[in-house]
Amino acid sequence: MYRSHTCGELRAEHIDLRVTISGWVQTVRDKGNLIWVDIRDRYGLTQVVGESETPEEVMNTLKSLGREFVVQIEGTVVARRDVNPNILTGAIEVKVDKVNVLNASLTPPFTIENDTDGGEELRAQYRYLDLRRNPVQEKLRLRNKVSLETRKYLDAQDFLDVETPVLIKSTPEGARDFVVPSRMNEGQFYALPQSPQTFKQLLMVSGFDRYYQIVKCFRDEDLRADRQPEFTQIDCEMAFVEQDDILNMFEGMIQHLFREVRGVELDDKFPRMPYSEAMERYGSDKPDIRFGMEFVDLNSVAKGKGFAIFDNAEQVLAINAEQCAVYTRKQLDKLTDWVKRPQIGAKGLIYLKCNEDGSFKSSVDKFYSQENLAEWAQQANAKAGDLLLVLSGDLDTVRKQMNELRLHMGDELGLRNPNVFKPLWVMDFPLLEWDDESGRFHAMHHPFTSPKPEDIHLIDTAPGKVRANAYDLAMNGVELGGGSIRIHNRELQSRMFDLLGFTKEEAEAQFGFLMSAFEYGAPPHGGLAFGLDRLVATMGGSESIRDYIAFPKNNSGRDVMIDAPSPLDNDQLNELGITLA
Ligand code: AMO
Repeated sequence: MYRSHTCGELRAEHIDLRVTISGWVQTVRDKGNLIWVDIRDRYGLTQVVGESETPEEVMNTLKSLGREFVVQIEGTVVARRDVNPNILTGAIEVKVDKVNVLNASLTPPFTIENDTDGGEELRAQYRYLDLRRNPVQEKLRLRNKVSLETRKYLDAQDFLDVETPVLIKSTPEGARDFVVPSRMNEGQFYALPQSPQTFKQLLMVSGFDRYYQIVKCFRDEDLRADRQPEFTQIDCEMAFVEQDDILNMFEGMIQHLFREVRGVELDDKFPRMPYSEAMERYGSDKPDIRFGMEFVDLNSVAKGKGFAIFDNAEQVLAINAEQCAVYTRKQLDKLTDWVKRPQIGAKGLIYLKCNEDGSFKSSVDKFYSQENLAEWAQQANAKAGDLLLVLSGDLDTVRKQMNELRLHMGDELGLRNPNVFKPLWVMDFPLLEWDDESGRFHAMHHPFTSPKPEDIHLIDTAPGKVRANAYDLAMNGVELGGGSIRIHNRELQSRMFDLLGFTKEEAEAQFGFLMSAFEYGAPPHGGLAFGLDRLVATMGGSESIRDYIAFPKNNSGRDVMIDAPSPLDNDQLNELGITLA
């Protein structure tokens, strides 16, 4: 028996008990005839002590232990002289009389403690050691709990967990596919699913009615803090539903998860906002509504006063940073540099300080009288002590830039509390989005999303104006999930492919199976998928999903631990009939 107890289990009530524990050596404190060793496992830390009465060979073994050795300790639980209130086992220690070194360890490349001295790259290379650290394990425990509670909720609602294939044909979800060559079908390739979209729709045609899967998806896209090339979705689909049925079901799921996992009661009813309104008020389809600082349109008061930059701009936009008129020149310069960084790309930043004495100070006050500036303040509902930050340009660009600035100010002013959770359904997305590069429309969500019936008449005349039965769940500035009511009719699906620039032959070759299925009694259906990694990271109060994945890829899509991707040898390439260009 390797252990009678874990390293997190022993308490004062165990005093005088003989125990066996196993784990990793965290620290050794050697004071000659007194030696303390902290032993760690998944459950906690137990202090082991050797002293004058301990057999000499045991003392010698204890002295020879290094960090991360794996040991088995036998001994008696005794009360600790100095109780450590910071750990659960802090009332006791184990007086050792037998020690068995189960395995030695090289000196680890970084300290395996809550705070480590290891840099990101080094920790990624030795991820299996990083994963021994408690804060990292905590994140995976959170993830486990979220998956488990997800399954409980969906199971209770009659959802069936059905697995779908991983070697498939490309499904367009907006990213590039990862592809896998087929040895048995030389010159042909499978694609890894960007999501199980078409399969879950086929399961509805098959009558499964409520499907879910916690499933890996693969997308070859540029990576960011909240994007990995392989990530996990809680993927769901329902038949015989309207949009409200889906929103209610998954509002319930998110409420359940926050209640069970975090002990947080979310809003009883999640607010809903049309996409167009989200863009107008926040410049984002996933607004962080934990704080205000909404966009203010200054066109009517800032244009036509001879300041050419504003006069020539399509849009002059402001946000009101309350009580920030005290910002110094230096702080304002720093903000200006921040918006001018290439990632944001603004040409400059104009400010208006609403002074306590009722006067106004602006970076452009040679173009504007005090009365003009008072109009800006009035438009923005600004009070004495407030600071307006103003950007201008074409509408889409200035909205994007202002969204970034708003979030940045929210961070700076401590308005984005990671322990506050504000869900928001963003609704009525446009069906199509124009892509300048290819000179044609793309599906904003995916090609299986249905248009709103009341907008169908616009499909031929103003396709860009057609709204979709599509919705996203945003929380704290993160898109947690999204979905739609689907097309379930061959004719409309085929019309959609036309709009997206597919020829009849292309549509048939890629999606013939789905359109055929629609001819055999497809029920009305819809669904959505949550990004599990993002959901867990948001619940953990973090913007980066990487820490919540056991073995993540870095920003270049590499796993630096196993060193993937890597070249194939010639034999393998030959077998696949592949010649590298
Ligand atoms: P969508 O493409 O919106 O919808 O994806 C659903 C959710 O998956 C998460 N997500 C990601 N998470 C981490 N890394 C990525 N690269 C990544 N890409 C997406 C997001 C997103 O909201 N088939 C549809 C769903 C449906 O219509 O039912 C789909 O995949 O949290």
